[in-house]
Amino acid sequence: MADSKSAKLLVEGKEIELPILSPTAGPDVLDIRKLYGQADVFTYDPGFTSTASCDSTITYIDGDKGELWYRGYPIEQLAAESHYLEVCYLLLYGELPTEAQLVDFETRVTRHTMVHEQMHNFFRGFRRDAHPMATMVGVVGAMSAFYHDSTDIADPLQREIASIRLIAKLPTIAAMAYKYSIGQPFVYPRNDLDYASNFLHMCFAVPAEPYNVDPALARAMDRIFTLHADHEQNASTSTVRLAGSSGANPFACIAAGIACLWGPAHGGANQACLEMLREIGSVDRIPEYIAKAKDKNDPFRLMGFGHRVYKNFDPRAKVMKESADEVLELLGVHNNPTLQVAKELERIALEDEYFVSKKLYPNVDFYSGIILEAMGFPTSMFTPIFALSRTVGWISQWKEMIGDPQNKIGRPRQLYVGADKRDYVDLDKR
Ligand code: ACO
Repeated sequence: MADSKSAKLLVEGKEIELPILSPTAGPDVLDIRKLYGQADVFTYDPGFTSTASCDSTITYIDGDKGELWYRGYPIEQLAAESHYLEVCYLLLYGELPTEAQLVDFETRVTRHTMVHEQMHNFFRGFRRDAHPMATMVGVVGAMSAFYHDSTDIADPLQREIASIRLIAKLPTIAAMAYKYSIGQPFVYPRNDLDYASNFLHMCFAVPAEPYNVDPALARAMDRIFTLHADHEQNASTSTVRLAGSSGANPFACIAAGIACLWGPAHGGANQACLEMLREIGSVDRIPEYIAKAKDKNDPFRLMGFGHRVYKNFDPRAKVMKESADEVLELLGVHNNPTLQVAKELERIALEDEYFVSKKLYPNVDFYSGIILEAMGFPTSMFTPIFALSRTVGWISQWKEMIGDPQNKIGRPRQLYVGADKRDYVDLDKR
């Protein structure tokens, strides 16, 4: 980052020079850190549409070109040639592992997949009909009560152990939340299975009969994990960073990220999208929903369409669409009404002037729900699967922040538009 370039800003006649920082890729960034001290003004940017909150070496997105890189590697290459645990290593440590490093990392993750036995009791405190995301927010937050030997953020070894624990245990916790919600016994992790197969096994096996994981489905599951692994400073990642900036422990920070991800404008969109496809129900009702989406007076939005950053296409959606075709072919799903609605909706929206002019394209959530449903997951499990996939991204960003000497507690300013200073009025005079 060279800061030889600068910009000049005139604030009520006073000239302020602002350094311009140049990134490896992407637009230059105006450095306004000293602006308040020099000019006594704040900047105003609700939703952070023009604000970089940190510098980061992990993930890069070019929204116009539809590019996504993890540590410089394009997502398409990683999705085709790598696998989730290798991608986790890359995100956490910055480079692709050697064979020995990969074996060591996989062993460490695999050896941490079980959760504290007492956690089973903790699960039983939840209502059976609780949404698995509600259970996950609670259980992941409670990890700091079970694993307090890895909550000292000043100790690099504890940070490392907490990272491995989170990556290893999130699939177990997500599967337990699912099993609990359907009244089936918890299935313990199996260390002879790879990460994705183990997750499918914990979700779909029952003690009464053997369950063999289809390797093609495990591969599709692994790809879903890989495509969701990180996405730079999105809402949930920024939440993790903000929570972590106060020195909160990693389990508490990841629980905060899970809470933020749950919203339908973010990770909850995959569930909302499939529910919308089911609600539309048949191809002939699509025009009605397209009209609702365009109507300014109707809050309805086409779920699974649009993205804050991608304004051309979502590269994850491209890979996910191919994966969806493969999985549906494998499972022999051809005439499923949800799928028919999805295909037709996509076709119409991609040609419709409203969606084209606003650059609204199908995002990753549009296709992921179709695959997950075909695999047998209920819609309520879609966002927990996103959460477990994103955990490595959150923890990598959290580790990067803790190790950054510039790290300060996150504390945005505001534009106060409330009442001016006034005197208290006694109750009998109001
Ligand atoms: N359906 C209909 N219109 C839409 C949609 C949509 N899905 N998304 C955006 N628009 C319209 C808005 O009404 C707005 O129109 P206007 O300019 O006439 O007011 C314009 O497009 C821009 O929308 P914004 O909300 O300003 O865009 P923003 O970048 O803030 O929002 C978001 C991005 C939240 C993803 C939005 O597109 C949306 O709500 N999509 C549906 C939910 C969804 O699929 N979320 C998943 C995102 S991907 C992820 O988290 C993994």
